[in-house]
Formats: sequence, structure tokens, C-alpha cells
Amino acid sequence: MITLGIETSCDETAVAILADGALRANLIARQEHLHERYGGVVPEIAARAHVEALNPLLARALEHASIDLGSIDGVAVTVGPGLVGALLVGMAAAKAITLATGVPLLGVNHLEGHYWANFVETEPPEPPFVALIVSGGHTMLVHVPALFHHVVVGQTLDDAAGEAFDKVARLLGLGFPGGPALDAAAKDGDPGAVAFPRPMEASGDLDFSMSGLKTAVLRHVRAEQAAGREISVPDLAASFQEAIVDVQVSKTIAAAKQVGTETVLLGGGVVANTRLRERLRADGEAAGLRVLIPPLELCTDNAAMIACVGAARLARGERTALDIAADPNLQLPA
Ligand code: KG4
Ligand code: ZN
Repeated sequence: MITLGIETSCDETAVAILADGALRANLIARQEHLHERYGGVVPEIAARAHVEALNPLLARALEHASIDLGSIDGVAVTVGPGLVGALLVGMAAAKAITLATGVPLLGVNHLEGHYWANFVETEPPEPPFVALIVSGGHTMLVHVPALFHHVVVGQTLDDAAGEAFDKVARLLGLGFPGGPALDAAAKDGDPGAVAFPRPMEASGDLDFSMSGLKTAVLRHVRAEQAAGREISVPDLAASFQEAIVDVQVSKTIAAAKQVGTETVLLGGGVVANTRLRERLRADGEAAGLRVLIPPLELCTDNAAMIACVGAARLARGERTALDIAADPNLQLPA
């Protein structure tokens, strides 16, 4: 079975082709350069850029996979959560292709896609498991009692982890998007240099908060500047990153215990973070957990993960009606 995946929920235009569990094409057109000077993704600009990028990218993906549209058996497309104007571009293309070729359509939840990035070219492990989903828009711990079913057991009360990375990176003058730049800067820093708070680490539940940590970084920078001291960007980056990572790691291990599983899956752009990968692998294993981490290139937004969920849902007979609307606040399917 050949599944075409399309992802346009934020600022990456992405097309992938998955043929019987083998990834035959996985292309991404980035548009960071268009948003950089605004310090964040501008929805209208993102939607327009998707319109320009999508058709040529689709043509290149088919070429990569050495197939034409007529060989496709199903189309999977992100239908939410995300920016509504951006989602609509991918959805219109997906609907047009299914209408023209007569193959089925499958609308995919972007967050389900993020942890299915672990299953591209491999089989999912036996549920139950816990998924930690950390991206620019979401931070959540999800109990997956059976494949395709979700119970959110914890989430952020304010900013998403990626958002916190981006905001602190901006404060430190590291540009946009901030996560990767902060990750790189932290490599030369001392994670123990500044003792930042670990918000809600001892809250007894599985929820997160980023605001206290963000404020602590801002206060520290202001105090150092007022005292006429030079701030060390690497030390600050490493200390901030360690604080976020500490909380993510301890809550993820706690979630696995609460749910009664030994399998933990990670997904989302922040899982590209070097320190988070390292710590979850080491601390998770020390806690007796099996931690699955997607390949680096499948952590940030891509269409391979969307094709992967879509193919699995199509294979069990699911279909999405052509009149489905984009849902910017789509919840994980119960
Ligand atoms: O999943 P994603 O590509 O898009 C959303 O669904 O939001 O996640 C993007 C987020 C951004 O906030 C970005 O700064 C963050 O993931 N990110 C990172 C790293 N790479 C991307 N954060 C920390 N360290 C990284 N290496
Ligand atoms: Zn994402």
C-alpha cells in the first residue's frame, strides 16, 4: 500500500510517500527565513508560503519515489491542531488528489503523528505506553492504553516547552527559531552555573508550567546587567535547558509509573534537543524503562509521521469524509 502524507500545520510544508512501511520520499520546504524578522511564525505568511511550496514539493516527492499520482492508494493529511489557514492549504491539496484519483482520505491529528514518528519503518510496540509530546505548541503526557486511543494525563498550564525555548533564546539574542540555537549554545555551558527553579517538579501531578522559569531567566539577565556583569550565554542556556529537562524527565518517569507501563515514547520538535534525548535515555533506562526516540529528522514537523499514522488507520478501514474542516484546537482521539 502506498500512502501519500501531507503536513502544513505550521511553518513547514512537508510531503512524504510511504510504501508498505518503507519511506520512499520525505521532503520538507522550510520557511523560517520568512518569519525570522518577526521573531515568530506569522500565520498569513505561512499559509501563502505553503500555497507556493506545496505543488512543486509534491512533484519532487513523486519523482523521488519514482511513482505517479495514479499509484497512490491513500492520502493522509494533518487536519489539526495548527494554524487554520496553513492547515487548509494541505487539506485542499489532499482533497483534490483524493477526488481526482478516487483513493481514500484520512485526516490525521498532528500530535498523534508526532509520536508515530517512532513507527516509521518499524512496528509499534505493544500498548499500554506513555507518550511525551513536546513541541512549539504543546507539552503533554499521554497514556495510550491501546493503539489509536489517548488519555491526556498531564499538560502545560501555560507555555509549551518549545515556546519557552524560543522565548529564552530570543532574550539571549540567539534568533529564531530559538530551540536549536539554544541547544547549540548550551553545549559550551555549565548546566550548574545558575540555579533556576524546576517549576511544578514536586507538584504531585503530571502537569507542567514554564512561566516561573521564564521569569527567573529574565530576572537573572536584568540583575546581571544592572550589576554591570557580562552574562555568559552558554552558561545561561545550559542552566535553563537543564531546568526544563529535569522536569520533563521526572514527570515522564512518574507518568510511566502511574500508568503502569515500562514503555515511553517521545515526540515533537523539542525531542530534537540533545540534552533531553541524552537524559531521557539515561534516566529512563536507569528507572527500568524502554525509551523510544524518533530519528532526529522526524522530531520536528514532517509528513512521514503523518503518512505513518494515516497508513495504519487506512489499513484498519478508517476513512475521512471530504467535507472535514480544519480544526486548530483538535484534541487527541479518545
Ligand atoms: O513539533 P515542531 O516542529 O512544531 C510544532 O508542532 O510546534 O516543534 C517546534 C519547536 C520549536 O519551538 C523549536 O524551537 C523546538 O521545537 N525545537 C527545539 C530543538 N529543535 C526544535 N527545542 C530545543 N532544542 C532543539 N534542538
Ligand atoms: Zn509539530
